[in-house]
Amino acid sequence: MTRTVYVNGEYLPETDAKISIFDRGFLMADAVYEVTSVLDGKLIDFEGHAVRLKRSLDALDMAEPCTKDELLDIHRKLVELNEINEGLIYLQVTRGSDGDRDFVFPSEDTAPTIVLFTQNKPGLADSPAARKGAKIISIDDIRWGRRDIKTVQLLYPSMGKMMAKKAGADDAWMIEDGYVTEGTSNNAYFVKNGTIVTRPLSNDILHGITRKAVLRMAEEAQMKIEERLFTIDEAKEADEAFTTSASAFVMPVVEIDGVALGDGTPGPIACRLREIYLEESRAAAV
Ligand code: PDD
Repeated sequence: MTRTVYVNGEYLPETDAKISIFDRGFLMADAVYEVTSVLDGKLIDFEGHAVRLKRSLDALDMAEPCTKDELLDIHRKLVELNEINEGLIYLQVTRGSDGDRDFVFPSEDTAPTIVLFTQNKPGLADSPAARKGAKIISIDDIRWGRRDIKTVQLLYPSMGKMMAKKAGADDAWMIEDGYVTEGTSNNAYFVKNGTIVTRPLSNDILHGITRKAVLRMAEEAQMKIEERLFTIDEAKEADEAFTTSASAFVMPVVEIDGVALGDGTPGPIACRLREIYLEESRAAAV
């Protein structure tokens, strides 16, 4: 089945989709994105992703390409056309193109570019990777200072994943000024004596939609939470650790820089949070 994608108002076979070579997303990474998961053919936390998209666009003085209702319709139509039961929807909005390359932003009447496509991922929820848990390494965080804006500047996170792969691990957590910021494509947590510790929100990390939901659910389940800076050494001495993201939900971490956490298998709090998150998100999906 040929994938149907959405480009600037049109639903097209992926092979017919075209963007200008002068598009600022392509030339300057002048673009923001969102990744929304799909379970049982429905969208998980669409509202959260739509609100964060608006926040990213506002932060960069970029125009909204369409209304929230139109965005919801596009997401739903792509799920339907591509028969997605479990998977992801990728959305990207760029500052568009005025037909040349210039550091100066194009005039305000330049139309933004909007692209969406689906990724079919059967087994996203009942994931073998989550049953095994992830091994992570730590690397320096050398990204720019506005990580709260979800831009497509993903070269360093990509390199981080490759460094992890080369080291025989699954992912990397990044460190700045001695403290863990976040994972290459997820937020980072450890658990010690029943308390969940994660870095507070600031411009240093992405304000994860899954993070917000999981912390609310943890609180409702009477779990203790501390939002504070933490070092990788603290995390290595933890009872367990995990990450959160729209693409992997709650992912247990079983090893950090070669040091096994607890008995080296997914911890009970991470597993419980994954269960609660999946159950509640399915129930609230649209
Ligand atoms: N990444 N931190 C970073 C750097 C991320 O790239 C992501 C998401 C997160 C988690 O945010 P959320 O819970 O809203 O997905 C945190 C997406 C999934 C990606 O790039 O594919």
